[in-house]
Amino acid sequence: MIKCAVIYGKKSAQHHHFIEKGKEYFDTVLGVPLESVRIVYGEEDTRLMYRNTNLNEFDAVFIRFLGSDLLYGEHIPEILEEHDVYTQLETDSLTIASNKFYSVKTLGEGGIPVPDSTYTLSTKETERAAKELGYPVIIKLISGYGGKGVMRAEDESGLSPIIDTLTLFEQDVSLQRYIENPGEDIRVIVLGDETFSYKRVGGEDEWRSNISAGGERQQHDATEEMREVSRKAARLCGFDFCGIDILEGEDGFYIGEINMSPGVESTDEAVGIDMADRVMEFIYRKTHAFQSERGI
Ligand SMILES: Nc1ncnc2c1ncn2[C@@H]1O[C@H](COP(=O)(O)OP(=O)(O)OP(=O)(O)O)[C@@H](O)[C@H]1O
Ligand SMILES: [Mg+2]
Repeated sequence: MIKCAVIYGKKSAQHHHFIEKGKEYFDTVLGVPLESVRIVYGEEDTRLMYRNTNLNEFDAVFIRFLGSDLLYGEHIPEILEEHDVYTQLETDSLTIASNKFYSVKTLGEGGIPVPDSTYTLSTKETERAAKELGYPVIIKLISGYGGKGVMRAEDESGLSPIIDTLTLFEQDVSLQRYIENPGEDIRVIVLGDETFSYKRVGGEDEWRSNISAGGERQQHDATEEMREVSRKAARLCGFDFCGIDILEGEDGFYIGEINMSPGVESTDEAVGIDMADRVMEFIYRKTHAFQSERGI
């Protein structure tokens, strides 16, 4: 019996695709909402419990978190790893992924081209940071997703009310240099050594290219250099599976963001394969490889 669980957070929307497809490979696939998970510390062991089921006894756990789920779930990969359970994440990767600034910084330090970025609490300091980066400037909530929580200010008078509002909600933000682009970006999906790509074209009068903000997917072959940089970015952040947003500027391309839970719904046409199926087949194969490496 080879068992897999898919843990998903409140904000996750597409986990059912993975649960469904996983059943073609694993004997059991259990869907586990994060809000029903208990982390139980005892002298002998730390157990990851879902109701009466000990997830440490599973062969694989696929973790599907977005936004603030990542903070609560931060220790989950480590607990599972200690119990020889395969996850698609390295132990400290959620700490990096939960903060858009730290993930970009990690990539930049690893030699990946990223837009110049600053991390501040939303205060007057943010205005100084924006001046340094130059206008227009991009403002991102540190744990935003789906294009929500990403804003653009054309000048200081546009930035002030945004910062005042964010101060009220006590948000920390990452500012980024705006990469001039025609409202589109390239999404590269990394799955182990494989890459898949498509283009996301923003809706009319929309500079964000997120599908959830009205964008549309088009077939697009990323260059070999983009694919190589994407594979490297995935390794730096500790993900076996992730989505990379590539912005093409006038002076070359930049990675704007790395997502540990990329959307797979309706990507079949643009990518030419059933992504959720391919991911679960990959996890199945990796689980076997992981177990034989550890002599299980
Ligand atoms: N520095 C930038 N310069 C120009 N455009 C940007 C920049 N950063 C983001 N964008 C645009 O805004 C969109 C949303 O930004 P980003 O991907 O960082 O957040 P998100 O989409 O909310 O996160 P997720 O991909 O997890 O849903 C990008 O897809 C891109 O089109
Ligand atoms: Mg994005």
